[in-house]
Amino acid sequence: TVRKVLSSLLKQQMLDEEGLQTLLCEVESIINSRPITTVSDDSSDLERINPVSEGSCTVVWAVDHYDVFLCPHTEKGDFLALDLGGTNFRVLLVKVSDNGRQKVEMENQIYAIPEHLMRGSGTQLFDHIAECLANFMEKLGIKDRKLPLGFTFSFPCRQTKLDESLLVSWTKGFKCSSVEGHDVVALLRKAIRKRGDFDIDIVAVINDTVGTMMTCGYDDHNCEVGLIVGTGTNACYMEEMRHLETVEGDEGRMCVNMEWGAFGDNGELEDLRTEFEREIDCGSLNPGKQLFEKMISGMYMGELVQLILVKMAKEGYVFQGRVMSALAHPRTLQDLLRVIYHFSAEKVLRELGLDPSPEDCAATQRVCQVVSTCAAHLCAATLASVLRQIRDNKATDRLRTTVGVDGSVYKNHPQFAQRMHRMVHRLVPDCDVRFLYSEDGSGMGAAMVTAVAYRLDMQHAE
Ligand code: GLC
Repeated sequence: TVRKVLSSLLKQQMLDEEGLQTLLCEVESIINSRPITTVSDDSSDLERINPVSEGSCTVVWAVDHYDVFLCPHTEKGDFLALDLGGTNFRVLLVKVSDNGRQKVEMENQIYAIPEHLMRGSGTQLFDHIAECLANFMEKLGIKDRKLPLGFTFSFPCRQTKLDESLLVSWTKGFKCSSVEGHDVVALLRKAIRKRGDFDIDIVAVINDTVGTMMTCGYDDHNCEVGLIVGTGTNACYMEEMRHLETVEGDEGRMCVNMEWGAFGDNGELEDLRTEFEREIDCGSLNPGKQLFEKMISGMYMGELVQLILVKMAKEGYVFQGRVMSALAHPRTLQDLLRVIYHFSAEKVLRELGLDPSPEDCAATQRVCQVVSTCAAHLCAATLASVLRQIRDNKATDRLRTTVGVDGSVYKNHPQFAQRMHRMVHRLVPDCDVRFLYSEDGSGMGAAMVTAVAYRLDMQHAE
């Protein structure tokens, strides 16, 4: 019975291949028709960014220069990086030395961002970031040095220069006042200046997808897509300049940050969204926004499972029809995520103080499986559409390419990666895709972009 009820309850969740193909066409038409309307007036060779953002698409870095980046590296030195927007907030020091052979060493420290700061004032948030940076530099004895810094700021931004990026809207549970519409680099600089106990040179601000693609590109020059499936989800890819109408020039390629978490915000997913996703959206800090992200990413998966289980309990199918407070409690989300990721349902449900029957455990396990499989398949569908776009750009029958991936869901869920890979293969059998797991893409990527930009800057000055 449990299985029967589940499958009718969750029918919409279980996208079949046909459903995915429809979704895929939808994504493709969006990729092709997406408006890109603003062009940076800064076309200086050095800054090389023609950053633009409109709706769910941001063009971040004009990287015919990706090639510059992929050349044998000659940069050396110490670089700082900040990584804000994933599961953790981190500060990194990346040391690149070159004694005949380039060597990269890294120190990093995770700092908490307390919830009240995630939803407080922008000033408080940036003061806190500056304080963590000061603490880190103090600990490593580098507070008296003015080091170049790269800032991975993984939220939708309108990027106007390599070191200037205006936040369009907060996502992933952040909602600090007076930051939307402002340049986050300027806010960080202000917070550091206010302290007056150290100085740094903020060289670049990037999105985590770009950092991921960049770090993987270092190892595999075929890497032309960066994918994140973690607290949020998003991807970037290398697009031909000739397809970016409002960006000057037709030569070379540019990295496009798709902000695909916002897919569906214009109604494209209405046929696919279930009552559970709608409920999550209504209760979120950004209703009506990031609808695709709310179907997939780690931040919402636990809640999705919880809402389904509560409904099943209410309808009398599990837990003897009782919605025990332990099950409905917000803190339970973390525990349900543990079921999704690692543990047996029974162990976790017992720890929650519930007394589950074997059927309750099976149902919980199955709900987790359905929710995470659905996320993997949706992700595969959007990724497949990006791959098709790249294949068509190259006018080749068979595309060989590499996708750099990072994110807590991709990394921690034992089957997510495999399910996603398998579905990508089914949807675009004519693409040979290598998935490269990015070790620390969002943090290291910022340091690497900074290192290259810094070198070019120095060359320019000479
Ligand atoms: C959210 C952000 C996006 C980021 C993604 C993954 O979707 O808007 O910029 O890349 O999360 O962290």
